[in-house]
Amino acid sequence: MTKKLNIGLIGYGFMGRTHSNAYSQVNHFFDVPYKPVLQVVCGLEENVAKDFADQWGYKSYTTDWRKVIEDDNIDQVDICVPNNMHAEIAIAAAKAGKNIICEKPLALNAAQAETMVEAIEKAGVANLVSFNYRRVPAVTLAKQLIDEGRLGKIFHYRANFLQDWTISAKVPQGGMATWRLDIKAAGSGVIGDLLAHCIDTAMWQNGSITDVCAMTETFIKERMHAETGKVEPVGIDDACTFLCHFDNGSLGNFESTRYARGHKALYTFEINGEKASIAWDLHDLHRLSYFDHGDESIVRGWRSIHVTDSDMPYMDKWWVPGLQIGYEHSFVHQVAEFLQNLAEGKSTSPDFREALATQYVCDAVLTSAKNKKWETVKKA
Ligand SMILES: NC(=O)c1ccc[n+]([C@@H]2O[C@H](COP(=O)([O-])OP(=O)(O)OC[C@H]3O[C@@H](n4cnc5c(N)ncnc54)[C@H](O)[C@@H]3O)[C@@H](O)[C@H]2O)c1
Repeated sequence: MTKKLNIGLIGYGFMGRTHSNAYSQVNHFFDVPYKPVLQVVCGLEENVAKDFADQWGYKSYTTDWRKVIEDDNIDQVDICVPNNMHAEIAIAAAKAGKNIICEKPLALNAAQAETMVEAIEKAGVANLVSFNYRRVPAVTLAKQLIDEGRLGKIFHYRANFLQDWTISAKVPQGGMATWRLDIKAAGSGVIGDLLAHCIDTAMWQNGSITDVCAMTETFIKERMHAETGKVEPVGIDDACTFLCHFDNGSLGNFESTRYARGHKALYTFEINGEKASIAWDLHDLHRLSYFDHGDESIVRGWRSIHVTDSDMPYMDKWWVPGLQIGYEHSFVHQVAEFLQNLAEGKSTSPDFREALATQYVCDAVLTSAKNKKWETVKKA
């Protein structure tokens, strides 16, 4: 018996679309005990919310997120708005007893994230933070290979997330498309936006990060603010590089920037172990590179695994071996697991507390860069 689960989506932008698609697709491919019903969508502009509701099949729309929370008919609130709104909405939704899926980063900073964790745990509501890259099959397979001990002792973890869309000084800060450049809306620059993904994946695969040493740069110091029309100082980090130690003794090396000309969303990681290495690249997300030192030397080399076989993570739910899936499927996978766990009364990873751990690393990175010193990471 599939039960209905009424969804209230807050934010109809980029993530609002990926989450709506996931809710619409999940029952077609996964045998889960709930059927999401797209009940209400909320966004800033009424006409856009109405068009979005028509396009995706939401039964109603609103411009007031509090109405979504107050609606007794809504079972689950999905938060897809800029970072500065996550805390207030999540805490209100927890108090109203709703399940919550919240986009990353969890909050503007760790202090705010702590208040969210407290509210969610007190209310005892089901919760998930949308670090969706964990559920790209090749990334999940990488985790499986590590957990099986195929890499042996891990020495190095390095990750990059490179973009190039803010190189022009004419790009404004603030406003609809460019809130990510406004410190008040985003909390940080590439650290919360991009490195948070790398940190979440890294800690999931390789354990916790103990301390960090970072540098950040804001290449363009002033930008016009889209809401005030005035040229204002830029408060976000445009680029960040940091080194870290993992609890298991391995060394980490992370870099992110929006000033790497030629790169749009190049998220890559490479993990080097005693017995084998793994590498992954978002631009080729259905492949996993693997080097096994145990291979006979005359055929030893990096192999490119096409992650499409039915014994690979999630792939038995999709097409036939050889046919790959893409970015949007990671969101379908996270919804599928959330719904299954909901029925079984289990939590789904990463929950708010795990996302707080990521937030602690982000905060430590910012503090380290500011103080030009190694910074110990608080434990969640
Ligand atoms: N998981 C990922 O890979 C990923 C990718 C992109 C963004 N994100 C995260 O998702 C969140 C949203 O990012 P996005 O790219 O979808 O942003 P976006 O700019 O595309 O959309 C933001 C939405 O928020 C709505 N909004 C803003 N203020 C509002 C208000 N006061 N009341 C109601 N609605 C309001 C806007 O109408 C818009 O629909 C952010 O936290 C971001 O960090 C995650």
